[in-house]
Formats: sequence, C-alpha cells, structure tokens
Amino acid sequence: MMNQLNNQDLLNSSLRRCLNDKYFFTAFYEHFHQSSPEIAALFDKTDMVRLNKMMEVSLFSIIAASESNGDNDQDLVDIAQAHKGRNIKPEFYKYWEISLLATVAECDPEFDDNTRKAWKHVLARGVEFMAQY
Ligand code: HEM
Repeated sequence: MMNQLNNQDLLNSSLRRCLNDKYFFTAFYEHFHQSSPEIAALFDKTDMVRLNKMMEVSLFSIIAASESNGDNDQDLVDIAQAHKGRNIKPEFYKYWEISLLATVAECDPEFDDNTRKAWKHVLARGVEFMAQY
C-alpha cells in the first residue's frame, strides 16, 4: 500500500512537471498522429485546446484509478464509453501508450528509470481498462 501511494505521488509530480512544459500536449499529439495516418485523420476536426484540457484531467484520473480499488474509476468509464464508435483499432491504444511515454520522457526534466516504470505500469492498466469497452 505504501509503495502504491508513493507511486501515485511520483506520477502526479512527474505529470505536473510535464504540464509546466506548454508544448507537452502538442508534442504528445505529434507523436501519436505520426503513429498512423488513420489516427491523424480521427483528429481532423478536433478543437485541440479543448481536448488538451480534457486530456490533462483524464491523465490525473488514470493515475488515481490505477491505485484505487474501483472508487476512482467512473471518470475512466465515461472516457472509455465516449471512445466507443470512434473507429479506434485495438493497436491504436498501444500507440497511445508508446506516444505518451515518449513524450513524458522528453518533457519531464527529472525523468528516470523509476518514473519510466511507474508510468509504464499505470498506462498499461489505463489502456487495458479502456480497451474493455
Ligand atoms: C487511455 C487512453 C485514452 C485516454 C485517457 C483518452 C482521453 C480522451 C479524452 C479525455 C477525450 C475528450 C473527451 C471525449 O471527447 O471523449 C478524448 C477524445 C478523443 N480521443 Fe481519446 N483517449 C485515449 C485513447 C484514444 C485512442 C487510442 C484514440 C485513437 C485514435 C483516441 C481518439 C480520440 C478522439 C478521435 C477523440 C475526439 C476528438 C474530438 O472531439 O474531435 N483516444 N480522448
């Protein structure tokens, strides 16, 4: 339990450092869109300023949900349900995970091996959760 709480603190701090970089989401979507032209096409008409604000909240939700016993999952259920019917192929979730990890590595000045492990764990769980819907 202690470890889990520490992990959550570590991730919240890492995410805050990333958010200090005003190009964090721009860089993330650049990575993500480059993974497949089909992904880029899905965001053709997206208001990215609005999306980035929602992504910020959802990343904190993924961190909270990953270490909880289900109490903090509702935000993620809502996001997962909103993604049904968006023509998202299963492998796109893997690209999402890879793109986010690469961007955190670039944007968090204190990124290290522990941070990488903690992010990998939490993103794998978040993506697995989303893919159930
Ligand atoms: C755990 C992974 C993911 C999280 C947490 C996440 C989070 C979000 C959030 C919070 C929004 C805005 C609210 C909404 O409209 O639902 C959104 C929109 C969207 N997401 Fe995701 N997403 C994830 C994975 C993906 C993947 C793999 C794709 C595949 C391409 C994707 C495509 C989209 C699209 C197309 C939109 C709508 C953009 C628009 O409004 O035009 N997402 N996502």
